[in-house]
Amino acid sequence: MSASQQDRYRPETRLVHSGSLRSQFGETSEALFLTQGYVYENSEQAERRFKNEEPGFQYSRFANPTIAMFEERMSAFEGAEAARATATGMAAVTLALTGQLKSGDHVVAARALFGSCRYIVEDYLPRFGVTSTLVNGTDLDQWRDAVGPNTKTFFLETPTNPTLEIIDIAAVAEIAHAAGATLVVDNVFATPIFQSPLALGADCVVYSATKHIDGQGRCLGGIILGSEEFIAKHIHVFLRQTGPSLSPFNAWVLLKGLETLPVRVRRQTDSATALAKTLAGHRKITRLIYPGRPDHPQAKVAQKQMRGGSTLLAFEVAGGKQGAFRFQDALRLVRISNNLGDAKSLITHPATTTHQRLAPAERADLGISDGLVRLSVGLEHPDDIIDDVLAALEMV
Ligand SMILES: Cc1ncc(COP(=O)(O)O)c(C=O)c1O
Repeated sequence: MSASQQDRYRPETRLVHSGSLRSQFGETSEALFLTQGYVYENSEQAERRFKNEEPGFQYSRFANPTIAMFEERMSAFEGAEAARATATGMAAVTLALTGQLKSGDHVVAARALFGSCRYIVEDYLPRFGVTSTLVNGTDLDQWRDAVGPNTKTFFLETPTNPTLEIIDIAAVAEIAHAAGATLVVDNVFATPIFQSPLALGADCVVYSATKHIDGQGRCLGGIILGSEEFIAKHIHVFLRQTGPSLSPFNAWVLLKGLETLPVRVRRQTDSATALAKTLAGHRKITRLIYPGRPDHPQAKVAQKQMRGGSTLLAFEVAGGKQGAFRFQDALRLVRISNNLGDAKSLITHPATTTHQRLAPAERADLGISDGLVRLSVGLEHPDDIIDDVLAALEMV
């Protein structure tokens, strides 16, 4: 489907058709090009391809038809000019940041980040002379105050993992641009269905495609999206030369995942909304966080920048760690796992898993108490999920 044709169609249609490269066999389902390399008609053609004088593929570390279909389809849906897929979400985050940075630069990031993202900002970048400042992402003054003469990029995720805080993307983008910096947004929790960071002013959006984009717990993958200029200047050459590339097989799974993404995410969100409604005021729950509810601390920002609630909710079980563990262990349908965005409902105790690396005071700062659990709602019948959660809470 050409770019002008894509514009005619609504987002769901683009997720089914955009980017398809149909082969000479006329297949309906996109082909899996499981190949490392490509052959050339003759020596002149090889030379032209390497000089970029002729379009075509050279080597799957940096270009492959199945990966190109995934990149094109994501770009069309996200409203991005260009995209590059990566082996994992962490490869996407690392590349999106390091591709722009050099020794002496400074990064400002929200403190509420997925554990490995926080490691990149706090521990990894400083090893190469890139300093960083962590701020409370919901406090705009802290972003402003953190800016220095060498600040090159801002980085945030919203809703945050695991406490589902909402950060105002448009406001932070404005502060970043006034400082001559770029803004990178990790959009994993919102999904492209409910939030479009580029349209809100971000320069780059990254995904762990491992989560909702696959949606059935099979493949790891990531993707970086932005303007043609951003991708060409900061991402393409770095990806080509350093090689954190997506496997064509995984690209094919993720490409097919996009076709069902809106249906899955909306259904999971409806179930999460129903579960949050049931749990509000429950005597065994001391705190409930759900971005779709009016009692969410940043409900206004959520309403302004998100088109829907969330497939995830977080809540504090009475009795601290012991209460949370009793609750998790009593679940029969919802399974204990650190993953999210799966067809299967999954529960996580962040304090002892994804965020155990942080000092207790840092966790307290982020609202990650010992009783907090994060629930990623799956595609089971909502009543079965609700029954399971209610029965397990009785065991606390
Ligand atoms: C918000 C967020 N960003 C990035 C990642 C990293 O993705 P991956 O596991 O695909 O490397 C994850 C989860 O693992 C995540 O939850």
